[in-house]
Amino acid sequence: MNLGKSVIKPVAKDRLPELLRRMPKAELHIHIEGSLEPELIFALAQRNGLALRHASVDALRRAYAFTNLQSFLDIYYAGASVLLTEQDFYDMTRAYLLKAAQDNVVHAELFFDPQTHTARGVGMETIINGLHRACVDARADFGVSASLIMCFLRHLSEKGAFETLEQALPLRNKLIGVGLDSGEVGNPPEKFARVFERCRALGFHRVAHAGEEGPPEYIWTALDVLKVERVDHGVQCGKDAMLMRRLAQDRIPLTVCPLSNFKLCVFPDLASHNLRQLLDAGLVATINSDDPAYFGGYMNDNFTQTFAALNLDAQQAWTLAHNSFEAGFIEPSARQRYFDRLNETFETFQ
Ligand code: HPA
Ligand code: ZN
Repeated sequence: MNLGKSVIKPVAKDRLPELLRRMPKAELHIHIEGSLEPELIFALAQRNGLALRHASVDALRRAYAFTNLQSFLDIYYAGASVLLTEQDFYDMTRAYLLKAAQDNVVHAELFFDPQTHTARGVGMETIINGLHRACVDARADFGVSASLIMCFLRHLSEKGAFETLEQALPLRNKLIGVGLDSGEVGNPPEKFARVFERCRALGFHRVAHAGEEGPPEYIWTALDVLKVERVDHGVQCGKDAMLMRRLAQDRIPLTVCPLSNFKLCVFPDLASHNLRQLLDAGLVATINSDDPAYFGGYMNDNFTQTFAALNLDAQQAWTLAHNSFEAGFIEPSARQRYFDRLNETFETFQ
């Protein structure tokens, strides 16, 4: 059964956080390297005999004060440098998927940045096999379905992206799609037009970060040049009414990450976030955690804090969870089962 909008019962404000925690949801914007908690960074550094710049877990955590995307990326790439073996990639992914399951995330699509690791001499097989084995095990052990989206680093060259794609092709059946991340401003989507054209011909799903810090024009070219099926972040579309209409009409999902946007100063505080405007305009917006170990929260933290700051209600909770399943690269019969589980949660919630 598919509940219509009018069927969602109002929920008392003090019960809303419990509903947000309990409802099944999909996470579609999580950089798996951004799930590395400082404790795990230190444990992996020790296991691999590596020295770290920060003296302790607390000192590392204290460095997490960001002014913009680049100030975060510098620390994020340093943190990821402790990953060397297949077991490292497995352990990181398993830790995230356990947390996700505890937040009632039933489906997750994980970004990873192979170039961060291949540049240090880590093999593509090491990376993908470790990530993929954790995804397979999470289905059996936690009941979470998980798949992998390989991201190209946009501050690097088109040639580097093509080489990365070639290295990954023998393992292509372990990936569902490709994405584009890292420093946005000055690295427009069209820099990767030919790489994405090749990925489309190969049958990969395509997403790209656009309109996080960059202008609405980058969202237009992500759609029209890269032919992406979803836009990651995309919040700068609020500055372009025609683009908002295009996204709504074509039902192009946005994977919005409220705590990330706050921590990277895209919005001065959560109360200033434009998520409500995106939903009101009929966009297929979703809530996601981006880099939860760095931005102060996993999925349910993003939901509860954003709902409190923007005074959102049960109807918007249902819409956001429904959007997450609509936006996922999920087989239709599985998607319908998720819709059914979502509706059942809302029907039985007291
Ligand atoms: N933006 C761009 N690149 C990233 C991000 C982000 O929010 N997180 C990890 N890599
Ligand atoms: Zn991101």
